[in-house]
Amino acid sequence: MKIGIDCLSFFIPDLFLDIAELAVARDTDPAKFKIGIGQDQMAVQPLTQDIVTLGANAAKKIVTDADRALIDMVIVGTESGTDFSKASAVVIHELLDIQPFARSFEIKEACYGGTAALQLAKEYVANHPDRKVLVIASDIARYGLNSGGEVTQGAGAVAMLITKDPRVLVLADDSTFLTENVYDFWRPAYSEFPIVDGPLSNTTYIESFQKVWHRHSEVTGLTLSDYDALSFHIPYTKMGKKALLSVLDETDEATRERLLARYEESIRYSRRIGNLYTGSLYMGLISLLENSAALTGGSRIGLFSYGSGAVSEFFTGYLAEGFENHLFQSAHQELLENRRQVSISTYEELFIQKLPVHGESAVYEDPMRFSIQKVEGDIRYYRKTES
Ligand code: CAA
Repeated sequence: MKIGIDCLSFFIPDLFLDIAELAVARDTDPAKFKIGIGQDQMAVQPLTQDIVTLGANAAKKIVTDADRALIDMVIVGTESGTDFSKASAVVIHELLDIQPFARSFEIKEACYGGTAALQLAKEYVANHPDRKVLVIASDIARYGLNSGGEVTQGAGAVAMLITKDPRVLVLADDSTFLTENVYDFWRPAYSEFPIVDGPLSNTTYIESFQKVWHRHSEVTGLTLSDYDALSFHIPYTKMGKKALLSVLDETDEATRERLLARYEESIRYSRRIGNLYTGSLYMGLISLLENSAALTGGSRIGLFSYGSGAVSEFFTGYLAEGFENHLFQSAHQELLENRRQVSISTYEELFIQKLPVHGESAVYEDPMRFSIQKVEGDIRYYRKTES
């Protein structure tokens, strides 16, 4: 039975910051951020958007009325949870009017959570072929004002519907995965921001890729030349490229050129959004599918998922015939084009704003379809308008 991604879509906040302006404000050469890190813009999250609204807005585009009755699980991969106990998936389940006899929960392992959710969904559909699973990877990547990681911040969500006979990407049974207890990036429960060992996170990412790729190659007999494209977790766009370059001497010139060209197509959206943590790999996949003229039905795509801490996985997907008819290219372009640029001072003001705590209340206005409407008695209430 073929199982995989039937459709997938992203959602991002409607505000962004220009990376060159950030560089100037931080007394840094803009070329370092634009070329050395590989970012052009960064999504900026308004106070009224959280992982629930980002995730629900992403999923709204792909969930039809027929799907609502067939979805048995809503799984959210995130490392920006707003509650230690209650899962964002439970709220998203209600916002999307999914049938009640469903499981809804969150999965956590840094940026790997979305892939864990995807693989769990695939196994569920294998046992329940007529049912569907909604997987959402939703995060707000924040390192702090003036921090080393600030340039790699971002926000947004990717939603994927996992079904049999998928219309976009058929997932193969060939995952290789790796767990190593490394403190490269982690966020203790007391801390608003992650603690990052930048150089260690870069080397762990690259070494993890090499390990899971080589194991994958050993187990399957596939080599780089068998792949039409590779899609990477993209904490910043230079990161995946470093990992890709580290193995390209294993292959021929034509393959090198092909994989590098596809890589550039896979990072177009991330250059303008920044890190989505759990959603970054899948943002890269969407960018690849929507911006590449070189892929066709049957094209083989390798996907590398990395979660600091560290868990990583390499797996393969095959494009379904006619996949290009089931993408949301123009809606995604609209989201990117209709954003409002904010100044450094507005970004800094937004960054330090906080929702009320300790039972205090506040009411908000945000025209986005799903947004935080008010906070009262330590509960976030969400707006669900058609606008
Ligand atoms: N012009 C062009 N390039 C320049 C330049 C200039 N004027 N000045 C510097 N550069 C280049 C450097 O040569 C370097 O390139 P290479 O890496 O190819 O050598 C690049 O810009 C970055 O320079 P630095 O290494 O000096 O940058 P930094 O010390 O400011 O740190 C960082 C960069 C470690 C990525 C930091 O932004 C960070 O900590 N980010 C968050 C952690 C992260 O994203 N880690 C990635 C792996 S972990 C992961 O994937 C999980 C996740 O999502 C977080």
